[in-house]
Amino acid sequence: MDNRIFIFDTTLRDGEQVPGCQLNTIEKIQVAKMLEKLGVDVIEAGFPISSPGDFNSVIEISKAVTEPTICALTRAVKKDIDVAAESLKYAKRKRIHTGIGTSIYHIKYKLNSTPEEIIKRAVEAVSYAKKYVEDIEFYAEDAGRSDNVYLAQVIEAVIKAGATVVNIPDTTGYCLPYDYGEKIRFLKENVSNIDKAIISTHCHNDLGMATANSISGVVNGARQVEVTINGIGERAGNTSLEEIAMILQSHKDLNYYTNIKSKKIVKASRLVSTLMRMPVQPNKAIVGRNAFAHSSGIHQDGVLKNRENYEIIDPKEVGITESSIVLTARSGRAALKHRTKKLGFELSKDKIDKLYEDFLILADKKKDINDDDLLILLHEERRRNKKMKLDLLQVVCGKGLKATATVKIMINDTEHLESATGNGPIDAAFTAVKNIIKRKIKLEEFLIQAITRGSDDIGKVHIQIQRKGRMYYGFSANTDIITASVEAFIDAIANSLNGNL
Ligand code: KIV
Ligand code: ZN
Repeated sequence: MDNRIFIFDTTLRDGEQVPGCQLNTIEKIQVAKMLEKLGVDVIEAGFPISSPGDFNSVIEISKAVTEPTICALTRAVKKDIDVAAESLKYAKRKRIHTGIGTSIYHIKYKLNSTPEEIIKRAVEAVSYAKKYVEDIEFYAEDAGRSDNVYLAQVIEAVIKAGATVVNIPDTTGYCLPYDYGEKIRFLKENVSNIDKAIISTHCHNDLGMATANSISGVVNGARQVEVTINGIGERAGNTSLEEIAMILQSHKDLNYYTNIKSKKIVKASRLVSTLMRMPVQPNKAIVGRNAFAHSSGIHQDGVLKNRENYEIIDPKEVGITESSIVLTARSGRAALKHRTKKLGFELSKDKIDKLYEDFLILADKKKDINDDDLLILLHEERRRNKKMKLDLLQVVCGKGLKATATVKIMINDTEHLESATGNGPIDAAFTAVKNIIKRKIKLEEFLIQAITRGSDDIGKVHIQIQRKGRMYYGFSANTDIITASVEAFIDAIANSLNGNL
């Protein structure tokens, strides 16, 4: 049997049913294009009969993406199928997804029908849809709680009527992985024409088993898995795409493969979370903020010695490039050294020891220490020992005035004083600094940021300069952003001179 697993994404249909997470057509197109880049095989773009908005979205998505098959959902109702076929008219590859409930709950209490009548309606719906498109997926709603012998009869009948894919949803998320897997196996072994269709899993997460059930389905013969990005969907959600993709990619022993470009996973997750205004839980597997974060000293040390000590997936494989080492009060010197090195500082053991003392004091006050906090600590430490530092700064500026700055810099304990004018206070001060330094320097990047949002906040300034074809970096933080800017500029210059003042 072929080991290719088809990924059917229903973020824009089952995922979008979450209250408060509705997307407009433009946002849906953005998600659909992302899904195309991610490499999904099928995009379920909507339930066209449900609203003019859904109808229109299926039309527009069909025009906007060309690689994946575009699928539209219907009930086993002719009008639904007519509208779905119309909405798919621009799709290069198209599929109608029709179906009906097959559990006793659905047959008796929802549809007020009989098992025989349901088979008849299922077959009619598939045959009717077949008039429009070749590729027909049939769903047996609540298959998870349907009797296996009856389910097999329904599936055999719809395949005979032309279904190319048969979807076995665990609509209520009730199945145990073993039972769901057995259901798939039962169908493989008892539906005489099963080789003419692909079996699909569609598992909900009400008991937290959606992913486990889907994998159990695959191991027992399913070749399509229905998923959503971040596992979003009705109630506790659907099976999450990222978990299935990474399970199949990591477990080479299972010997299955998908077309998913895993490096795009985190980007897709963030896009869906932002557009749907639905934050991802921090500990969510694969895409949660903490999924690759190591905060305890022992784990950090272990990961730094060999990533595989505590990581089963290389974060780069899912598109995470930033460091997974979170600096907290529990971090050790190894993590601190690693992070400062990444920031471009090679510190001696003594310097790391000193920095570690300052770091622990700050980490006691602040939960996470980020790169900017570290730069502030490093800057403070370096400022104490600087041979070139700002000693005085005075600026005169305002509406209708030409900005003027006077700068005094101490270089090796000698005072250097200069004044200059400019098109603003920073321009004037930088010109005064350049007049003192008398070297050819080009300002490449200049970034001012506030740490929080108050007007009394500390401003952080990052500067990059170019000297003799090389880039040098400078940083400072101060409640006075003009002082911070001049200090960062001097810091970058001092770095470029490397002691040759
Ligand atoms: O959960 C479910 O049964 C469904 C079907 C409509 C496919 O979403
Ligand atoms: Zn569903």
